[in-house]
Amino acid sequence: MTLRRIAKIFKSRPTIEGAGVHLKRAFGYSQVPQFDPFLMLDDFHADDPDKYLPGFPWHPHRGMETITYILEGRVEHGDSMGNSGVIGAGDVQWMTAGSGIIHQEMPRESPTGTMWGFQFWANLPASHKMIAPRYREVKAAEIPEVSTAQGVQVKVVAGEVAGVKGPVGDITIEPEMLDITVSAGTVFTHALPAGHTAFAYILDGEGYFDDRRDAYAYEIAGHGWTDLERRCVCQHETVVLFEHAGDTVQVTTTDQPVRFLFVSGKPLKEPVAWYGPIVMNTQEELRVAFEEYKLGTFIK
Ligand code: CO
Repeated sequence: MTLRRIAKIFKSRPTIEGAGVHLKRAFGYSQVPQFDPFLMLDDFHADDPDKYLPGFPWHPHRGMETITYILEGRVEHGDSMGNSGVIGAGDVQWMTAGSGIIHQEMPRESPTGTMWGFQFWANLPASHKMIAPRYREVKAAEIPEVSTAQGVQVKVVAGEVAGVKGPVGDITIEPEMLDITVSAGTVFTHALPAGHTAFAYILDGEGYFDDRRDAYAYEIAGHGWTDLERRCVCQHETVVLFEHAGDTVQVTTTDQPVRFLFVSGKPLKEPVAWYGPIVMNTQEELRVAFEEYKLGTFIK
């Protein structure tokens, strides 16, 4: 067993997307290709409906996958394949855009007042950018929850943990997507394929994601000149990008529990040509995509 260590730490930053949704971007365009095959992770967390109700009206996607995971609140969606409905707390929507899909994602007023969810984008390899689009909706009840050790609970959306497979499979980047809660005073270990890119996004609590426990052992993307404290314990809204070497991730908690999303996948190592909601390999492919969208021939 070789432990994976932290390559770099990022903090999510406030940004405005769609028709005026206030969210926090954990990583995105500026981090390409560090998270390859993942492109972006957005954290929507708002108590004020004005900050999330504007939503994401009709827009296209091509050449990538969008994955939505809702923790609190509801999102109404519709797409060019005729899918429509509402996804709620604990539900996942895994949409493979492939050759093209046009959809909208509109948060509704949350029954609890709070909207909290995530959208992340995964890339498709050149060989799969133009495959037929595929839409998968997974209800909370279909997502198995496994306890791999005392004090550890893992919701398995994609991948396999302790022999339990998540409902999302047959994806080219062989992703793992886990929602993990580790109680206080617990050591969590998880084996993953060597060479796969892996990151954790902390939702709540705090934990150590690197056995060195040294805040100067890796790079931390600071916000600015007011960042005067550098801690090796990771807390909410922090993204931990692991090194590629090693086959096991280890998370240790002390006096607090920690909850985090854990995502891994096989890097594509291909050129990325990205503009807005379309991600191809070349600028020429982007030109074709936007021309087709304008001409009304985008959907295959
Ligand atoms: Co979209």
